[in-house]
Amino acid sequence: MRFPEGFLWGAATAAFQVEGATTADGRGRSIWDEFCEVPGAVVGGHTGEPAADHYRRFDEDVRLMADLGLQAYRFSVAWPRVRPDGGLVNKAGLDFYDRLVDRLLAAGIEPWPTLYHWDLPQPLEERGGWAARATPYRFADFAASTAEALGDRVRHWTTLNEPWCSAFLGYAAGVHAPGRRDPRAAVAAVHHLLLGHGLAAEVIRAASARAEVGITLNLYPVIPADPDDPADVDAARRVDGLQNRIFLEPLFHGRYPDDVVEDLAPYGFTAHVRDGDLDAVAAPLDRLGVNYYAEHHVSGRPGPAVAGSPWVGAEHVTFPGRGLPRTDMGWEVEPSGLTEVLLRVHRDYPPIPLYVTENGAAYRDAVAPDGAVRDPERLGYLESHLRAAHAAIEAGADLRGYFAWSLMDNFEWAEGYAKRFGIVHVDYATQVRTPKMSAMWYSQVAKDNALATVVAP
Ligand code: FCB
Repeated sequence: MRFPEGFLWGAATAAFQVEGATTADGRGRSIWDEFCEVPGAVVGGHTGEPAADHYRRFDEDVRLMADLGLQAYRFSVAWPRVRPDGGLVNKAGLDFYDRLVDRLLAAGIEPWPTLYHWDLPQPLEERGGWAARATPYRFADFAASTAEALGDRVRHWTTLNEPWCSAFLGYAAGVHAPGRRDPRAAVAAVHHLLLGHGLAAEVIRAASARAEVGITLNLYPVIPADPDDPADVDAARRVDGLQNRIFLEPLFHGRYPDDVVEDLAPYGFTAHVRDGDLDAVAAPLDRLGVNYYAEHHVSGRPGPAVAGSPWVGAEHVTFPGRGLPRTDMGWEVEPSGLTEVLLRVHRDYPPIPLYVTENGAAYRDAVAPDGAVRDPERLGYLESHLRAAHAAIEAGADLRGYFAWSLMDNFEWAEGYAKRFGIVHVDYATQVRTPKMSAMWYSQVAKDNALATVVAP
């Protein structure tokens, strides 16, 4: 099963999840530093320290990626390192990414920075966070200084990672930083994140003529539990609206979907949309990043409303399981959903190069006495999803690359360090890295640009 020539094979991380060194070289505090310290925190005592100590060990990590034959590294730039209070630039913080980019290029690995992977500077949250209209403009300032510093060497930029999580998990459900449970703030955040994307795209292009700009969305097929039950069908429409179309429609067509606007009217959604905003949001995209983990199977049968639901206006929807095998996150393994989301973008939106910017699975890995980490379940997960990605290419999707989530075990947000997503194992006490069996296998796939082995389920 060969992939198209030039198909890009990479792995991904994000700043707060791997870097540690949260006070080094003038880094300021982010909403995640704060959220980890809230008494009785969701995160259960975990913090951003030491994470995988990537800030100090990036050199070793780049060597590891080179040994595995990875062609691209998707990482994120920590806003609180670059503009610690949202204002003035901190050169020492920016310099870390300068070193990282140089080291990657010297190793023949393409740097793929993401500008916002959820670490808003805390001082900006104190001024309203993403619910405030000033925040997208501060984001553009951060994007400009980063692109000016790195744009001579970096070509592949991603503005936001999964704005759905930032807006709805952060501001409605309260299970991600900043931990607010305010649906009105969440819908304001949706628009301000998208505006921030548009403004950032413009300044990145102004700073670097060779820049290629994308955004990463977490897309899900949304399927009614019972396609003959109108309540399930309507729940699926609403969830699809909030998860997928509220981002895809403005990015590709410069408008919010009518049904979503209507669903969100009680929360003051469109009050935030000013003249010209949607033109900025719909600035041409060079590619779309798709993160995929599972499907949503949705039921709308009347049940108790869930306190702290991310589904603004649809708090009563439930997600019945299908009895499939689950990862350590409790997510069902549904590879065909990856084919489906890629083909949906291909079918329903203008032609655009696609990249899977995240896909992977958490399992309970351990280092065996012989020093090996055998993770057949992860290997099987990756393999089945690569087959699904290949099926999308065969059916016409312009998929150009794939990034495994994650290069290494890291801080899994509300779950802390308990969930291991890496293809490389990290011993947090010693910071020793051990490539898992899945990493060796993935390395061979990247080298062959093909899936050779059939793995028994
Ligand atoms: C995605 C995030 C990423 C990681 C994976 C498991 O939603 O973008 O940082 O936590 O989930």
